[in-house]
Amino acid sequence: MTPVTVRVPAKVNLQLAVGPLRDDGFHDLANVFHAVSLFDEVTASPADSLTLRVEGESIEGVPTGDDNLAARAARLLAQQLGVPAHAALTIRKNIPVAGGMAGGSADAAAALVACARLWGADVDLRPLAARLGSDVPFALLGGTAIGTGRGEVLTPVQVSGRFHWVFALADGGLSTPAVYAECDRLREARGERPGPPQASPDLMAALAAGDAKALGAALANDLEPAALSLRPALRDTLEAGRAFGALGALVSGSGPTCAFLADSADHAESLVAALTEAGVARSVVAAHGPVPGATVL
Ligand code: C5P
Repeated sequence: MTPVTVRVPAKVNLQLAVGPLRDDGFHDLANVFHAVSLFDEVTASPADSLTLRVEGESIEGVPTGDDNLAARAARLLAQQLGVPAHAALTIRKNIPVAGGMAGGSADAAAALVACARLWGADVDLRPLAARLGSDVPFALLGGTAIGTGRGEVLTPVQVSGRFHWVFALADGGLSTPAVYAECDRLREARGERPGPPQASPDLMAALAAGDAKALGAALANDLEPAALSLRPALRDTLEAGRAFGALGALVSGSGPTCAFLADSADHAESLVAALTEAGVARSVVAAHGPVPGATVL
C-alpha cells in the first residue's frame, strides 16, 4: 500500500436559484456549478487508525476532529466496505475556508477517492458523496453541471472554451445554514414566494457559445442579498470589481468570497492587481474554469 494523493477543485456557482424551504430543512435548487483551478490536495497514507492533519496558510476554522468532513467521508466509505477506517489523511488547503467555494465538500470528495484507491475498493462513490453534503457529488464530477434537488442530482453542461475568473477572499467565513436562513427571512419580510427554481436559458446559451460577455450578464445568485445583509462590506468589493471592468460580479455560493469574470487571462491579472491595490479583500487570486473533478495524481 502506497500513499494516494487526490487533487480536487473549488467551485463557483454561475447561477444559484433557491426555491422554497422544504420540510427536511433544505431548499430545492437550480444550481449551476463550475469547477475552477483553485485546488486542495488530500493524501491518504497507510496507517493503523484514522488520523487527520491539515496544512496551509489560512486553515483557521477547519475542524481537525471527528467532525471534519474528510474524516467523515473516510469513515462512511469504510463502513460501506466493511473494512476498518485505517488511513492517515493529510489535507493541503488552498481553497478558502467557509468561503462559499465548497472547500470542505471538495476535501470530502477527495478523501472518498483517495481512501477507495488506498483500500483497493471499486465502488460507486456518488451515493456516499450525496450523503456527506449537497456539494460533494459535484466535487467528484467537476466541469460545469446543473445540480437539482438539494444540489446533489447532477446533469453535466456543455461548455466551449475556458473562462477566466478572479476571486476576492474575505476575512472570516459565513455559515451556509445562516445564509440560507437569512434568505428565507428576507423573502418572508418582503412577502416573496419563490417558485420552482430553474436554470437560465441565457446562461446555458452563453456557456455553450463560450461567450464571456453574455455569461457575465447572466450570472445570478439568489443567496447574494442574504450574504450582503450579513456582510454589508461585500457590496464595496463587488462594486470595485465592476468599476475595474469585470464582465460580471457576484457572491460565490453562500459567500463571503466574491467572484469576478474577466474576458482574458491578462484581464484577470489586471483585475487581481486593481482589487489588491483597492484593499477590498483579504487576498485576490485568479483561476480558470472549467476543470476536472477529484483526480488521483
Ligand atoms: O448539504 P450541506 O451539508 O452542504 O448543507 C449545509 C446547510 O445548507 C444545510 O443544513 C441547509 O441549512 C443549507 N442548505 C439548504 N438547501 C440546500 C443545500 C444546503 O438549505 N439545497
